[in-house]
Amino acid sequence: MRLEDASRIDFVLTLRRRWADTLYPVLAEQVEAAAGDDAAAVADGLPLHDWFAWLERGSQKMLWRATQDTVLANGSETTPSAAKAGGGLDLDPGLALPDWYTDWDIHVQPGGIWRNRQTAEVYELGAKLVMLGENDDYTFHTLFAETAVPKRDYHRIIDLGCGFGKSTWPFARLYPDAEVIGVDLAAPCLEMGHQKCGALGLPVQFLQRDCCDTGLDDGSMDLVASTMLLHELPPEPLAQTIREAARLLAPGGLLRMLDFRYTGDALRNHVLTGHSARNNEPFMPYAMAADTMEICEATGLMNARWVAFDERPHSPKPGRQDELIWPPRTDWHFPWAVLEAEKPA
Ligand SMILES: C[S@@+](CC[C@H](N)C(=O)[O-])C[C@H]1O[C@@H](n2cnc3c(N)ncnc32)[C@H](O)[C@@H]1O
Repeated sequence: MRLEDASRIDFVLTLRRRWADTLYPVLAEQVEAAAGDDAAAVADGLPLHDWFAWLERGSQKMLWRATQDTVLANGSETTPSAAKAGGGLDLDPGLALPDWYTDWDIHVQPGGIWRNRQTAEVYELGAKLVMLGENDDYTFHTLFAETAVPKRDYHRIIDLGCGFGKSTWPFARLYPDAEVIGVDLAAPCLEMGHQKCGALGLPVQFLQRDCCDTGLDDGSMDLVASTMLLHELPPEPLAQTIREAARLLAPGGLLRMLDFRYTGDALRNHVLTGHSARNNEPFMPYAMAADTMEICEATGLMNARWVAFDERPHSPKPGRQDELIWPPRTDWHFPWAVLEAEKPA
């Protein structure tokens, strides 16, 4: 990477770190000092909230611009000639992408992630940086696969909404005897995932399918996983995706879907709802309000619950619990949680 690109990216990431660890605590202090009943209304009346909100969207745009320029100047790290490692790629050129998927430049990324190879490469570099620059080796997804999913003798694992595979290959690494499948709508990302897994020597099958209707056999999966998918889906596709997951699960199979949840802290909830608008994630508030327990129960899945997920590798894990309790933090962080359920044996 050229020094000028690295410097620009470093600047934006530092700005975003200070936004999260310095600006947010001051905003929280100001809201508390105002001692109003409605934290959201109090925050909206504070000049600092305008600045905080503007900086979130402004720095996101700066990040994409820097990322795009970097990809244009340097090309991709992924070599198209990478070995295939026994994996597969099945694209469906006839698959119609839903309007709700193509109408928005998700995460404010110009052109979205699905349009062409270049947008996929920009997304790939952006995805490394999105955890405030601390996701270089995709520790987040490895942590999810290692700590949110019980160790078992899985035969078939599917990752719905797999993107370019960074949420999929940890499963292939952890369970080398399992058949691991990644499903997504975005053909350029799937191609990239196929090449990356080939280069990593991981035999993942990548399929271009809608996660509402994968066309795969009933009861064919022991684990259905997804990370950061549900909040991108409008209400009906979200419910349909959970129904599809339940259909795919074999008796005794497990569902593990990571996404955002409201925390119960009024200011954090307000910032999260605002994030949805500022970051072009329009369905997020609906996803967080959806009655996922009821949807799971209606499909016959049992023991459905949301469990808090702390993305910091060295933080003590909250352990198994039915409540959503995150470790106390003063900085702004995305409140990740895992929807767990199982198919009766
Ligand atoms: C935020 S990305 C997460 C990607 C990956 N799971 C990760 O954690 O890095 C959401 C992914 O879901 C995919 N997606 C959204 N709606 C989908 C649908 N209906 N069917 C399949 N994939 C979908 C998007 O193309 C995108 O790759």
